[in-house]
Amino acid sequence: MPREVNLGVLASGRGSNLQSIIDNIEAGKLSAEIAVVISDNEDAKALERARKHNIKAVYIPPGTHKTYLDDEVEKEYVKCLKENGVELVILAGFMRVIKKRFFEEYSGRMMNIHPALLPSFKGLEGQRQAFEYGVKVSGCTVHFIDESVDHGPIICQASVPVLEDDTVETLSARILKEEHRIYSEAIQLYAEGRLKTEERKVRVV
Ligand code: GRF
Repeated sequence: MPREVNLGVLASGRGSNLQSIIDNIEAGKLSAEIAVVISDNEDAKALERARKHNIKAVYIPPGTHKTYLDDEVEKEYVKCLKENGVELVILAGFMRVIKKRFFEEYSGRMMNIHPALLPSFKGLEGQRQAFEYGVKVSGCTVHFIDESVDHGPIICQASVPVLEDDTVETLSARILKEEHRIYSEAIQLYAEGRLKTEERKVRVV
């Protein structure tokens, strides 16, 4: 049995990826525990979902910037993660760019999920970008976080077809289903100590 890895989840909104992680833990399919969920949005459904499952849920106001956390606020986030014994930070729809305070503490121990096949369609609304570009295949990517947005070493990806009668919504739903599957898979591989990062490459050993 692999050890249980202590997760800290950062989420800004709906929290469906958080929910899938909770469900997989509760079903005994994921050797992890969620120590804390933190949000920059007081009304995030993710906080509500966490509380429903008796998981500590904390709102930490983001400060004055729109796309990232103030330096002092970053310190607070990291303090909260450390105080709760978090080993692996999981970004699940967290709408802020991660900056230096996180890297001081959690470098190589932060994951993100992106709703497109990186390195294509980085940034916001990856599904829409791919759809509007006219690709025939899209998908999602779980990657470690480095200092560039949507850039860090790729842990796993899943592809889905883009169908003739798709809309952004139907494509997004197909991608989301895969997100829910591969995020837990990536966390499980981490818990089992099977992810070895060598520069850009993550080997599963
Ligand atoms: C997902 O599509 C994820 O790939 C992206 O943000 C969205 C979050 O959705 N980073 P949810 O809050 O997990 O439902």
